[in-house]
Amino acid sequence: MTDNHYENDKLVAVYDLDSGWSVDRDFYLALANKPQMTILDVGCGTGLLCNKYAAQGHDVTGVDPSVAMLNSGRAKKHGNKVDWVHAFAQEFALNKLFDLIIMTGHAFQVLLTAEDVRATLNNMKNHLKQDGLIVFESRNPHIDWTNSWNYEMKIVLPDGGTVEESRHFISMTDNQMSFELRYQFHDELLKSESLLRFWTLQEIQSQLSAHGLFAEQVLGDWDGKEFNEKTSEEMIFLVRKQNGKGK
Ligand SMILES: C[S@@+](CC[C@H](N)C(=O)[O-])C[C@H]1O[C@@H](n2cnc3c(N)ncnc32)[C@H](O)[C@@H]1O
Repeated sequence: MTDNHYENDKLVAVYDLDSGWSVDRDFYLALANKPQMTILDVGCGTGLLCNKYAAQGHDVTGVDPSVAMLNSGRAKKHGNKVDWVHAFAQEFALNKLFDLIIMTGHAFQVLLTAEDVRATLNNMKNHLKQDGLIVFESRNPHIDWTNSWNYEMKIVLPDGGTVEESRHFISMTDNQMSFELRYQFHDELLKSESLLRFWTLQEIQSQLSAHGLFAEQVLGDWDGKEFNEKTSEEMIFLVRKQNGKGK
């Protein structure tokens, strides 16, 4: 089971309204820069990117452990052109190699243990073409997230109703954050508790190299700026096989 806000149909319907198209999605879409690429989206969620890639004629697979998220992706305009796979990042097994493998929306941070990261990177590598590219991002742990984590927003639902959504920081221990999401609908309050790991640059780099992978670039922002440990919010990894195109 994943978190309630990924499993509950009512909360999944809110996901595209609070986490819709944004500059990070433009960045990932631009990576599909050749015709008919094979693209794997790990932790694809509601399939916003999968649908856009499929609309452009790419051969797209979306993997996610949440049935509700996958159903949301399937229901989108180009959902019937995407292969949807119900699996965890650590475990999916597809009989196919990909030009591009992505893990977006900070989904990498749902990987809480070193073993989770090990299994995920190993799996990605095994599904990557020799000259293929893996791209994912994780929030920079050197930024003080605890002070900026809470928010409140009012979302208008397609039926005209509203939901008051809020996020509440609980604790940060050993770079693992605990927080709660609350969704006040007109008839009920739904809650979801969640954990995210804030991996360091060094932890990710050493996991990559243990798997014969390397980051040819680490960006700090969606505009292409290089990562700066003191100021960048994002760590965006562009990863290749060590004996592939880059080395
Ligand atoms: C923040 S959402 C990101 C979704 C999507 N990538 C996006 O950019 O909107 C995190 C997603 O990770 C999925 N997830 C949770 N645990 C996972 C795991 N172990 N492996 C793969 N995906 C996982 C959740 O079901 C959810 O769809």
